[in-house]
Parts: sequence; C-alpha cells; structure tokens
Amino acid sequence: MGEVGQEKIHETNGVGAGFEQAVLQRYGSAVSDGEPGLCVPVDYDRALLKVIPDEIIEKDFGCGDPSKHVREGEMVLDLGSGSGKSCYIMSQIVGARGKVIGIDFNPEMLKLARKYQISIGDKLGFHNTEFRRGKIQDLRTNLDLVEQYLQQHPIRSVSDLADLQGYEEKIRHEQPLVADDSIDVIVSNCVLNLVRPEDKKTLFAEMYRVLKRGGRVAISDIVSDEPVPEHMVRDPELWSGCVSGAFLEEEFLRAFEEAKFYGIHIEDFQSQPYRTVEGIEFRSITITAYKGKEGSCVERNQAVIYRGPWKQVMDDDNHILPRGARIAVCEKTFELYSKPPYQDQFILVPPRQEVPTEEAGVFDCSRDHRRHPRETKGIDYKATSAAGNICGSGSNCCP
Ligand SMILES: C[S@@+](CC[C@H](N)C(=O)[O-])C[C@H]1O[C@@H](n2cnc3c(N)ncnc32)[C@H](O)[C@@H]1O
Repeated sequence: MGEVGQEKIHETNGVGAGFEQAVLQRYGSAVSDGEPGLCVPVDYDRALLKVIPDEIIEKDFGCGDPSKHVREGEMVLDLGSGSGKSCYIMSQIVGARGKVIGIDFNPEMLKLARKYQISIGDKLGFHNTEFRRGKIQDLRTNLDLVEQYLQQHPIRSVSDLADLQGYEEKIRHEQPLVADDSIDVIVSNCVLNLVRPEDKKTLFAEMYRVLKRGGRVAISDIVSDEPVPEHMVRDPELWSGCVSGAFLEEEFLRAFEEAKFYGIHIEDFQSQPYRTVEGIEFRSITITAYKGKEGSCVERNQAVIYRGPWKQVMDDDNHILPRGARIAVCEKTFELYSKPPYQDQFILVPPRQEVPTEEAGVFDCSRDHRRHPRETKGIDYKATSAAGNICGSGSNCCP
C-alpha cells in the first residue's frame, strides 16, 4: 500500500499483455493521425532541426532533450526512437565518426524513421543512423528477423512453435539486436514509463548489459510526485499516454541505483507538470547515470580529498567522504573520481612514488579510512625545500 492507502501494482502481478498492445496501437495510429495531447514543449537546438523533414518533426512525442548529453564520435542507442527525430539530431552531434541506433517495436514508427534515412545522410554528407526493431526490455531479440522467420514458417502446430522458440534463442545469441558492452551513451525520451511494471527490471538490466564500461545513460521521462493508484495504472488510456506508468520520482533514481549505475544526477526537473490527474502531478525529468563501478580493489597508496560544500558525502559504493579529509581509496575508486561526474568534486592525491602493478596488493577495506600523508609521500621522505622558491625565478609574487 502507498503512503495514502493506495495499492501499487507489483512487478510480479504486472498489468498483462494488453498494455503493450495499447501502446503499439496508440503510437501506430499517432504516425498517421498525430497526437497533440502527447506533446511536451521542448527547446531543441533549431540549427539541428534544419535537415529534418516536417513529417518527422511533427511526430515528436518526447518530454525532454537527452541529446544535449551526447558528444562527438560516440556510439549512441536511442530507446523508443519513434519517428527518429532525436536520432537525426544526435546524428549531427556525433558526426561521421559516431553512430546512432534507434530501437522501437512499432513498425509504423520505424517505417517513418527509415523513410528519410538516406536523404538526411546525403544532406549531411555521412550516413550514421540505423533503426532496429525490438523491445527495449529485450535488446537481444531482433523482431525484424522474427517477422521474416514467421513469414517463411507460419505457426500451425506446437512443434512449429518450438521451432520458433529455438530460432529466437539462436538469434539472441548469434546476432543480438544490440551486443554486450557496445554503446557509449543510451538516451531515451519519454519511453521507460510505457514499459510494463513486470518488465522494468529487465529493461534496466538490458541497459546495463549493452553499455560499455564507463558508458552512461541520459534519460528523459515522466515521473509522478505521489504513488499512482491501481485504478489509474490499470487505465490503458492513461498508461499509453505516458501518465500512469510513470515512476514515483524518487523510485526512478533508485531503479538506476539498483541496476548498479553510479553518479546518478538530475539534469532537468520541469516545474510545470505535463499532466495533473486526481491531484497527482506528472512531470518531465532528465537524469544521467554511469556504468562501471565494479571490479577489483587494488591498493596503490592513493587518496582523495572531498572539496565540499557539504560537510560530508556518500558515494554509490557507500564510501563516506568528509569535507577536506585525505581518504584512502583503491585504484578503481581513484579512477572513478578523476572522471565525470565526480572530477570537479575531489582533489586527487597520487603517491609520490607510483606503486608498480606487480607490487600492488588488495586494498584493505577494513583499514583506517583516512590516508596519512606519510602513506602517499613515503615513510622515508625527509625533503626540506628552500624558502621562497615556489614562484620560480624572476617572479616577484612572493615578496
Ligand atoms: C512517447 S513515444 C516517444 C518517441 C520518441 N522518443 C520521441 O521523443 O518522439 C514512445 C515510443 O516508444 C515506443 N515504445 C514504447 N514501448 C516500447 C517498448 N517496450 N519497446 C520498444 N519501443 C517502445 C513507441 O512505439 C513509441 O514510438
């Protein structure tokens, strides 16, 4: 039961297959008929819209702009790519050295996205977009291949069904829709809420699987400020309209944490709700999060100092870092703190003499968590510097 006595839908009960059909139908007909009610005003970079035909721009059902978090040369995966608008925006940001793959399970949406693939690429002078058919909670199964198989092998018996399952198993392993550890950035714009509660855990695990170590997600979606009651969750209209499948705002962030992401950060949180239903506000949020905090902990006499302004902070591995203190960290944590999203928060203190890899032991997690400066400088360090020589010769900065 929720805080105010509202029953929540549990992952194990789920909402059933009908909801996926409702989503398929709604976005299938939105391609021809449009859906003005699904539109959240988004301030895209106008210069990047110039090469995109109106037919695509008009079918914008996003609620944020995760493309702002993509960089040149990156391999990007867009979950629930719809008409392809975000993919064509990001295609220009990543440029000829990068690539953008859009995933959608709706054939009408894919047809529209693919329609202008060649002509947009010709205008840009490079072709770096691809649209693949699949469910975002199962990034192994290529549904175009399954469709082709079914056309050649219609199901007429239980034995035909077993053959289909065997074929699916084979392509999932031999030709996965998206390979393990292959993506720099996953973006998604207003789609995660449409995935059924019973599939949400697999969705996060799949995102984690396909990202490279050090890769990140930039996700815009709808969240609610209060738990969504069951009668609203079971309403297919509200569900397919990006309302009642929304995560509770805090649970959205927790879902990334539970899927082992780290450095989770709210980039944008719209003050104005997208919809308010029965007093519950549904609004757009954009978050970023990173993959790759697991691995062995090697001792290399490294320390970090948290700059502040908070008195202390705790990271996603439960390290507590008091402001201004030299804290002992293993090599893996030291590397993590030297990169986004942490690098501006810490002063990195390497050892005066590097510990060679072959001499580096296992980091003792039960040790005193402060690192005495003697550990980084060396016990035998006895240097005494001459007074006043830190400004360099000819400088008059230290009278
Ligand atoms: C609200 S629209 C957003 C489309 C696009 N991201 C945009 O910004 O315009 C949702 C899209 O996600 C697709 N979709 C919904 N659930 C999906 C799922 N489980 N797997 C793959 N695609 C899905 C729909 O077909 C639709 O194209």
